Amino acid sequence: MRYPIDGQTILITGASDGIGCAIAEQLDGRAGKLILVARREDALSTLADRLSTPTRIVPCDLSTADGPSALLRAVTDESIDVLVNNAGVTLGGAFADQDLDPVIAMLRLNIEAPLRLIHGLLPSWRARGEAAVLDVSSVAAFIPCPGQCAYAATKSFLHSFSEGLAGEWHGTGIRMTVLAPGSTRTAFFRRGGIDETKLPKNFQTPEEVARVGIRALERGAPLVISGRTNRAMDLAVRLCPRALTRRVARRILRPLITGEARTVDA
Ligand SMILES: NC(=O)c1ccc[n+]([C@@H]2O[C@H](COP(=O)([O-])OP(=O)(O)OC[C@H]3O[C@@H](n4cnc5c(N)ncnc54)[C@H](OP(=O)(O)O)[C@@H]3O)[C@@H](O)[C@H]2O)c1
Repeated sequence: MRYPIDGQTILITGASDGIGCAIAEQLDGRAGKLILVARREDALSTLADRLSTPTRIVPCDLSTADGPSALLRAVTDESIDVLVNNAGVTLGGAFADQDLDPVIAMLRLNIEAPLRLIHGLLPSWRARGEAAVLDVSSVAAFIPCPGQCAYAATKSFLHSFSEGLAGEWHGTGIRMTVLAPGSTRTAFFRRGGIDETKLPKNFQTPEEVARVGIRALERGAPLVISGRTNRAMDLAVRLCPRALTRRVARRILRPLITGEARTVDA
């Protein structure tokens, strides 16, 4: 069964760059209306100018206590059919060296914002009996990640929460799709203070990841892992003893720790 995307009002967080921007571009000409959210108004405007679909931009910092409710207030008059919870940041380095404030801001953005947006939109979706959510988690949700401990934990939370919601919503007309990308060629790692040359080389492009996510959303798939290597990794993690997973993850990811605490800003 294919679910409609065409003609729908689709809100995408983190649309100013990377995977969110690629999702917006691929929905251009198909969505009825796009609502693009991120902090950088200029980047959102530049993207909106390129799109042929009617587009509204809502500049908003979703890592602040009031960010998600401000966004919900701004879109009260919109009838949102699809919510794409894509905005997210990482924070590289040893936890001991990190200031706690940026870590808490990351938790707010990666966990609290999707929860609040879904919770705020659910009453109208339940009244309508139809809606869809695409939550962007990560393969980091499946493995311990030295050098990005708190980030990986945010994605584990989002992943588990979203799969749980898929179960709660089964048969209600409200669909959940979780998209788990692996390393993707965006500014994400640089912004998080991570030297991506130290990562395994199997990067996907944001366009590839966006295509996989949109296709899964249309199929109504509860979970999609983007990329063959990432799917193989997921299978290996599920088959291997946890101790082996920890050892391999430590060997691959620990070199990422630079000892320098970084901020989450661009
Ligand atoms: N790249 C990867 O390797 C990878 C792998 C697995 C999962 N993911 C996930 O994919 C999602 C998108 O990542 P990406 O690679 O596309 O990263 P990206 O290129 O850095 O884009 C991140 C987006 O989030 C927005 N954003 C950041 N902080 C925000 C805030 N406080 N409030 C509102 N918006 C904010 C950014 O816009 P502004 O700066 O304008 O606010 C940008 O549009 C994230 O959830 C990430 O965890 C990425």
